[in-house]
Amino acid sequence: MAKVVTLAHYYTTPEIQQMADKVGDSLELSLFARDAEADIIVFAGVRFMAETAKILNPNATVILPDRGSTCSLVEQTDVTALKAWREAHPDHVHVSYINSSAEHKALSDWIVTSRNVDDIIAHLYAEGKKVIFSPDRNMGAYLNFQYGYDMPLWSAVCEVHDKFNQQALDEGFASVGDLPSYLIAHPESPLPVLQQADYVGSTSGMLNWVKAFDKAPNSVIFVATEDGILYNMKLARPELDIRQAPIYAGCQCNQCPYMKLNTIEAVKRAQAGHGIEIDYLTPAAIEAARLPIERMLAFSE
Ligand code: 13P
Ligand code: SF4
Repeated sequence: MAKVVTLAHYYTTPEIQQMADKVGDSLELSLFARDAEADIIVFAGVRFMAETAKILNPNATVILPDRGSTCSLVEQTDVTALKAWREAHPDHVHVSYINSSAEHKALSDWIVTSRNVDDIIAHLYAEGKKVIFSPDRNMGAYLNFQYGYDMPLWSAVCEVHDKFNQQALDEGFASVGDLPSYLIAHPESPLPVLQQADYVGSTSGMLNWVKAFDKAPNSVIFVATEDGILYNMKLARPELDIRQAPIYAGCQCNQCPYMKLNTIEAVKRAQAGHGIEIDYLTPAAIEAARLPIERMLAFSE
């Protein structure tokens, strides 16, 4: 009988996370997929994650439960234009966020996730390299601001995180009155939001921050990221007041529509072998995309 392993990103619903063998952030899920001794990997996430699993474990059958599970960072990046942009910076190292297509990865020298991007770019600058960063403009702007880099940036955004804004946050902070309040944020959020944050990091990083929280127990913690992760945070620290960062009055719509396509029915179908198989990457395409990913994994392990 075929051995099936199911992976779920933190942004899927609690029900989907409960169906998974492993729940994690992009880096953790990539490593797990690479090492999985599985005939079939069901990836309850989005397409670039399933493609990364296939690139790292090409002998496994990798299935994405729903055809529509894309990512706005991928959709907003035209690979022909990206190639021209890269060629216009021949003396730069091209660092790409893992939220990118396999074709995009093949045009990159390094892949990074939100967990290791700070360290990898610091390492490249320490070596005297010049860097261009794609596709996430918000993440790149944050790195340039935080560390004084001057990286030219590609201009795509996450349609979910890009909705967070300073005004709604100010209103959120004001609504809790005198209670101590904190903001943690994913680096895909706009710079003014990140400048206000007490912690900026990956989904796992934010979860760990909440687990280690040791300030006043009546504090309010606002979380500027997709709402799936709040399930894990509340499970870890049920006594804390953890809230979605507000977007604008009356809207709590910070859900990734692509992650939420992973319904119970779609994941069950995929576990039975029916779904979108990642079978369109040629061996050459896999090899070209694997090199910059493996550079990252060697650095991070
Ligand atoms: P993480 O790697 O932090 O889990 O982020 C993935 C993602 O898609 C964020 O929008
Ligand atoms: Fe892409 Fe944003 Fe969804 Fe993450 S939350 S998968 S970056 S659209």
